[in-house]
Amino acid sequence: MGGVGLFSLPSSSSSPPRLSSSVSLCGAVVAVVLVLISNGPAVCDGGKTSTFVRKVEKTIDMPLDSDVFRVPPGYNAPQQVHITQGDLVGKAVIVSWVTAQEPGSSVVLYWSNNSKQKKVAKGKFQTYKFYNYTSGYIHHCTIRNLEFNTKYYYVVGLGHTIRKFWFMTPPAVGPDVPYTFGLIGDLGQSFDSNKTLTHYERNPRKGQTLLFMGDLSYADNYPNHDNVRWDTWGRFIERSAAYQPWIWTAGNHELDFAPQIGETKPFKPYTNRYHVPYKASNSTSPFWYSIKRASAYIIVLASYSAYGKYTPQYKWLEEEFPKVNRTETPWLIVIMHSPWYNSYNYHYMEGETMRVMFEPWFVQYKVDVVFAGHVHAYERSERVSNIAYNIVNGQCTPVNDQSAPVYITIGDGGNLEGLANNMTEPQPSYSAYREASFGHAIFDIKNRTHAYYSWHRNQDGYAVEADSLWFYNRYWHPVDDSTSV
Ligand SMILES: *[C@@H]1O[C@H](CO)[C@@H](O)[C@H](O)[C@H]1NC(C)=O
Ligand SMILES: *[C@@H]1O[C@H](CO)[C@@H](O)[C@H](O)[C@H]1NC(C)=O
Ligand SMILES: *[C@@H]1O[C@H](CO)[C@@H](O)[C@H](O)[C@H]1NC(C)=O
Ligand SMILES: *[C@@H]1O[C@H](CO)[C@@H](O)[C@H](O)[C@H]1NC(C)=O
Ligand SMILES: *[C@@H]1O[C@H](CO)[C@@H](O)[C@H](O)[C@H]1NC(C)=O
Ligand SMILES: *[C@@H]1O[C@H](CO)[C@@H](O)[C@H](O)[C@H]1NC(C)=O
Ligand SMILES: *[C@@H]1O[C@H](CO)[C@@H](O)[C@H](O)[C@H]1NC(C)=O
Ligand SMILES: [Fe+2]
Repeated sequence: MGGVGLFSLPSSSSSPPRLSSSVSLCGAVVAVVLVLISNGPAVCDGGKTSTFVRKVEKTIDMPLDSDVFRVPPGYNAPQQVHITQGDLVGKAVIVSWVTAQEPGSSVVLYWSNNSKQKKVAKGKFQTYKFYNYTSGYIHHCTIRNLEFNTKYYYVVGLGHTIRKFWFMTPPAVGPDVPYTFGLIGDLGQSFDSNKTLTHYERNPRKGQTLLFMGDLSYADNYPNHDNVRWDTWGRFIERSAAYQPWIWTAGNHELDFAPQIGETKPFKPYTNRYHVPYKASNSTSPFWYSIKRASAYIIVLASYSAYGKYTPQYKWLEEEFPKVNRTETPWLIVIMHSPWYNSYNYHYMEGETMRVMFEPWFVQYKVDVVFAGHVHAYERSERVSNIAYNIVNGQCTPVNDQSAPVYITIGDGGNLEGLANNMTEPQPSYSAYREASFGHAIFDIKNRTHAYYSWHRNQDGYAVEADSLWFYNRYWHPVDDSTSV
């Protein structure tokens, strides 16, 4: 890419004009060079580093008595209600909730807005222990054979305190179905997390399903991984996750591997609390799986499960990519926790081993976009690949590649660990835009060729886009959609 990346258009134009760092200086040089010549100084050949600098405030978890953690009233009332897709195509939903006093009923009563005839689905409950914590009764119930594009009401807590919710099923899988995905990663349960979720809920673009890039509760930052913080997190997100599916990815904060207190089974709290439909895509593990939803094919990968050659995840993905039929689902989206392209000085190159294994497939099968979390900031790449290297040829620099995905890091949900604000300098040419702010994003699929993507930093009004891009589908409309001229 070299000097190409220099000419980033300020698509992300809402940054306040504040000159405060060497980065801004670089921007000034860019402006001058733009006017004069068409070749930039090698030292600042990257995309845009936002000049927006967030006021440095400590990120603090909401206290246990916060309104968002309130236990719903009533004996044995269901709490932490959340839903996710329950099959391959969106005709099933997994409903999950927790009861505290006694198991109660695992039945979900549901009916569609159209028929009003009530139906019953029977689930199961489970409990687990973690050090000296004992969980409540965790219920999971899959509702099947739903109609597409229909509003359903559902009730849980039968026999004790009942609570009623609703959700919309997606339209049938098909190439030109518009659909809107929200994107949040590394959320946690701080005051900033609450702002991120509030902004997502109030975004007029209205995400219909949330893709979650891993690192949920951050309970593991508490003494003995205090699992009470898994419960508070479940209550916090209920106001969104009970009404629209959250599609789960496992992050490092889901590992809960703590041999010092005898907890040696990784992912114990996560797998007990969050079920995913992995068997529907012939996966053998809940950490990697795929779903189709409307016009999208979504592949969820596991940064913390083996992915080397011959491993179950490797073999699954090898068989998975050829199944993607872009005539049926034009948009191929991959989500994972640890990013492959990350120019922050946090988790630098942690995604490298997986990139080496899988990137050639991503280019071969023309993945449209990859969303990752882990780094607590925001970054969007140009379409680049780095697959030419073969140990001896020295070709180990990312190059512009129109068959490659755009890589977006969106680990900026707002957890208690705070912002990642230390960036590698100069900004590498593959990095189109980066900013150390909390926020969320929306991927708004219009049809088989166009999707509108926008990232919203928390400091602005709900509707303000700090970064945005028209995505052109790599299969149907593979023209250059980069923000560089
Ligand atoms: C619910 O049903 C009513 C009448 O049956 C219909 O007018 C309305 O559009 C439906 N709402 C949704 C969200 O499906
Ligand atoms: C678990 O142990 C910690 C200290 O080891 C203690 O502070 C806490 O109260 C205990 N929790 C329960 C539920 O027993
Ligand atoms: C969280 O956000 C909601 C919605 O904006 C608000 O009602 C609530 O008071 C907030 N809670 C905390 C603890 O910030
Ligand atoms: C899963 O495997 C079964 C048996 O090989 C096959 O019939 C089915 O089509 C596969 N499903 C998917 C989604 O690949
Ligand atoms: C791909 O999907 C289209 C539309 O559903 C269908 O007509 C076609 O047969 C599928 N192709 C393959 C190879 O399955
Ligand atoms: C930023 O990260 C670099 C590389 O890890 C380190 O050398 C430097 O001290 C850090 N800067 C600050 C301000 O923390
Ligand atoms: C697809 O959506 C884009 C953006 O809304 C629009 O410009 C284009 O005309 C649409 N294509 C078709 C075939 O409708
Ligand atoms: Fe992480």
